[in-house]
Amino acid sequence: MGQIISKQTIEDIRQRSDIVDVIGARVPLKRSGTTFKGLCPFHSEKTPSFHVNPQRQIFHCFGCGAGGDVFSFLMKSEGVTFSTAVRMLAEKAGIPIELSEGEDPDRDEKEVLLRIHEDAAAAYHQLLLKDAEAETARAYLARRDFSAETIASFQFGYAPERRGVAALLKGGKYTLEQLEKAGLMARSGEQAGQPGRPYDRFRRRLMIPIRDELGRVIAFTGRVLDKTQKGGKYVNSPETRIFHKSRVLFNLDRARKAILDARMAIICEGQIDVIRCVQAGIGHVVASQGTAFTEDHARILRRYTDTAVIAFDSDKAGQDAALKTAQLFLRGELVTQIAALPDGEDPDSLIQKQGPDAFLKQIGSALSLLAFQHRMMTRREDASKEVGRMRISRALLETVNMATSAMQRESMIREAAKLLNVPEAAVRNDLKQRRPAVQGPETPAAPKAAQYPREELELLELVLAHPEAGKLLQVYLPPAHLQSPVCRRLLEHVLARPAGGEWNLMDELAGDEESCRVAASLQFNLRTLEQPDMTAETAAKALILVITRKKLERIREALRRKAAENPSPALEKRRMEITHDISLLRRDWEHAEPVLEVYADADEPSA
Ligand code: CTP
Ligand code: MN
Repeated sequence: MGQIISKQTIEDIRQRSDIVDVIGARVPLKRSGTTFKGLCPFHSEKTPSFHVNPQRQIFHCFGCGAGGDVFSFLMKSEGVTFSTAVRMLAEKAGIPIELSEGEDPDRDEKEVLLRIHEDAAAAYHQLLLKDAEAETARAYLARRDFSAETIASFQFGYAPERRGVAALLKGGKYTLEQLEKAGLMARSGEQAGQPGRPYDRFRRRLMIPIRDELGRVIAFTGRVLDKTQKGGKYVNSPETRIFHKSRVLFNLDRARKAILDARMAIICEGQIDVIRCVQAGIGHVVASQGTAFTEDHARILRRYTDTAVIAFDSDKAGQDAALKTAQLFLRGELVTQIAALPDGEDPDSLIQKQGPDAFLKQIGSALSLLAFQHRMMTRREDASKEVGRMRISRALLETVNMATSAMQRESMIREAAKLLNVPEAAVRNDLKQRRPAVQGPETPAAPKAAQYPREELELLELVLAHPEAGKLLQVYLPPAHLQSPVCRRLLEHVLARPAGGEWNLMDELAGDEESCRVAASLQFNLRTLEQPDMTAETAAKALILVITRKKLERIREALRRKAAENPSPALEKRRMEITHDISLLRRDWEHAEPVLEVYADADEPSA
């Protein structure tokens, strides 16, 4: 009893479940700009007004007003409760459900790890800039032509030879155990009973912070500075509570907008390649952390774009990895091309030698997955022999069979026929049966969307887009002044939003269907103030006046009814006062402010 699914679990599940996948499995969706569109499953319609926003991870139907997050979608479409919806997605994502009785100790632990990383990144960076020992690192960066701006913005650092991270983060702020959990320290020679000797994972290395989608440092990669140094060329943080390699794309925090603008993402093998691109003015670039790309990576990328161009090293290993990655992305419904960099080059070296335009030219003339595979296979097989041709066509058809999208499959069939120089019918014949196309759920009639006072919705929109407007509201507008309980509840949550850091309105609402619906509709319509002479403050003032005035009008109406039943001079006097206050609220802020102050104190001003 009293146990709830922990916020952390809900957040994890939300992060692992892409709303486009979940809804897309039930409703055919098409990309339309930065959102996806389809026929609303909640009312019957002929033209699509049902939208899914992958960045905000919400849906909203402009026809019937249905809306919410991935959980509310399941609740509504499957008719299940919030906790069942959470469990359904948890199962799919393979996340164990953690229950909590209020505070979540796990969250605290993650916060400590994040603080350690933030502090360590800052300390390593200071050393790189100022410490005598870091001269080798500074010279190395200069030799590789990384600018001061790049060094600062990626927060490059230096991990010294002797001074360990425990000493750098002085003041005993963190225990050895915490530094171990953060992956900055490890233990050697553990023996039965004996815990082993703690040591620093990173020493004498150039440190590059790895950030999550929100820009928080969650891990490091450390590069050796000279070839004689022992250990791998790169040492990476291990998996920790906050670092899951299979889900982190290097640079995604800053590439997000560029990817949306370019409507595609460039995929590199190494962090250095990415950093080189960014320094050269190419922003829509990400990489994995020296490990293979995963389905999670594909899913995360697809929130931002449906097109990826792979730019891996031109060596055999790089090309094999490019093919594997492109096939994986194909399963994730990303249209993937592969750039053929000149022999011996990676994006970093190519940009250094020939400039960003030469690199972009290679990106522009990247081959489709099938064309790339065909070229690779014809180089490795003898196409003049029957067996060689067989192997080539079998490999290509296997790739076609990986396509999950019917449209993509269709165009690949045509492309394969051309490449193999056979009729399309022959390709079709050879292909195995694919899974049937997905079908949408039954569509009941559109439920009538509840109406909310226009000004209360506008107020919510305003504070969502302009948190600074919240200050005035705290002083002048108690949420109780709002007529709609749903808007009131939303306003309370939005005003309690912590400054900075991650915050998700949907998490606060924990499945309350109506609040989620309204929140989704607000976030879908979210506009920033358009008129140049309108500031968040003037907009907030105008809305405070209207909302307070309407509140007073409701009180006056109640008084009128009371007086009709049971007239009294006191009631009459009160009504006249209120009428006067209402007239002041109709004037400007200066006249209205004293009235606002009177009513702002009373929690629930009564008749
Ligand atoms: N990598 C790794 N461990 C290694 C070598 C490589 O984790 N011992 C990963 C790193 O993420 C690296 C990527 O694989 O960025 C590509 O490796 P490589 O091509 O060798 O490095 P570059 O990115 O070219 O880096 P540099 O130019 O500094 O050599
Ligand atoms: Mn390189």
